[in-house]
Amino acid sequence: MLVKGNLLTFRQGSGAATAFTEIRSMEVVDGFIEWIGESKNAPTADNVVDFGNRLITPGLIDAHAHPVFGGNRVTEYEKRSQGATYQQIAAEGGGILSTMWATRAASEDELVATGKKRLNWMLANGTTTLEAKSGYGLSLDDELKMLRAIRRLGQETPMDVIPTFLGAHAIPPEFDRDRSGYAALICNEILPRVAEQGLAEYADAFCEDGYFDCPTTDRILTKAKSLGLKLRMHADQLTRCGASQLAADLGAKTADHLEQTDLEGIRALKDANVQPVLLPASVYALGLHHYPNARAMIDEGLSVVLATDFNPGSSPTASLPFVMSLACTQMKMTPEEALIACTLHAATSLDRAQDRGSLEVGKRADFVVWDCQDFREIPYWIGAPIVEKVFIEAREVFSRA
Ligand code: NIG
Ligand code: FE
Repeated sequence: MLVKGNLLTFRQGSGAATAFTEIRSMEVVDGFIEWIGESKNAPTADNVVDFGNRLITPGLIDAHAHPVFGGNRVTEYEKRSQGATYQQIAAEGGGILSTMWATRAASEDELVATGKKRLNWMLANGTTTLEAKSGYGLSLDDELKMLRAIRRLGQETPMDVIPTFLGAHAIPPEFDRDRSGYAALICNEILPRVAEQGLAEYADAFCEDGYFDCPTTDRILTKAKSLGLKLRMHADQLTRCGASQLAADLGAKTADHLEQTDLEGIRALKDANVQPVLLPASVYALGLHHYPNARAMIDEGLSVVLATDFNPGSSPTASLPFVMSLACTQMKMTPEEALIACTLHAATSLDRAQDRGSLEVGKRADFVVWDCQDFREIPYWIGAPIVEKVFIEAREVFSRA
């Protein structure tokens, strides 16, 4: 199949990658890009799909999401609209624990069914690869149930789903604030089963005073690493407790959130080659104003990633274009930096840059056709349905019409 359009490619110079739309066609064979270049040099093909002047980008990659859960938190959303804070609601037994109850009550099939609906929202916003975390089961059986549901979402939808174990998300009520008892359950019972059954590629922890402090996070993630899992980490979201330095010390692939990270923390990430994953929609949806310091991270030479953090509490959005918009208006990233953060840099953060994240020969034909010509329009038209078609491995999986 020969695909024609306004194809966006990246050029890797001495510094950061830059975006260009000067390429006009690509040849796709068996789901992979076999040739890309000027139309006049294109190989002859029986099947030509011409999108005219429409922009074609790589499929978007959402590198941080919690898409599997029971129920929703719309009542808390209403309370926050009246001034209650995320922490106040959590202290009253709401927050992550209220989603835990609803997730424990749901069957695996129910979790898959609601998950599919949410993955469809994501597809309609241009996402083709998704990282998905457990963390609302918080017991052996319920965490395994969540991870099986995540695996099935990868098998039963067109989306490629990369699983992350987040047992260290909150302390379940059975442990009544016995953090170390719950950490022992994770290390001795849950993690070995997760690893044995190959249910997760990454492990993550919510490193935050009141959830998992640095020593407990260290204990859990060190165990995960010894079992062959790679690491990601929720760090410095609500308070600064040394989480960035810990992510660096542990050799985590990413440190995520980073709203409270200072320059020292940013430099620690850079020295240890940990990629920042920024989640501005969670700042926005919690009604907060303190966005992470993306400019300082870029200035230090870090390859910043943007992700939705899709979850029922702090970030109920499935839209990476909306996240890109927040990145431009609230964090002063350029549209180009924002797009690279949701494609090439996101792929790198998931160890997938060898086969996706840019339109290049040898990579998967995962791409989005947009109802616009210029990539700056993606964050600019806030909330408009400008995704026209989505292809995964050259197969059309979404069409707006
Ligand atoms: O990334 N910070 C911890 N986890 C989620 C929130 C989860 C929830 O509130 O259900 C986050 O923001
Ligand atoms: Fe999160």
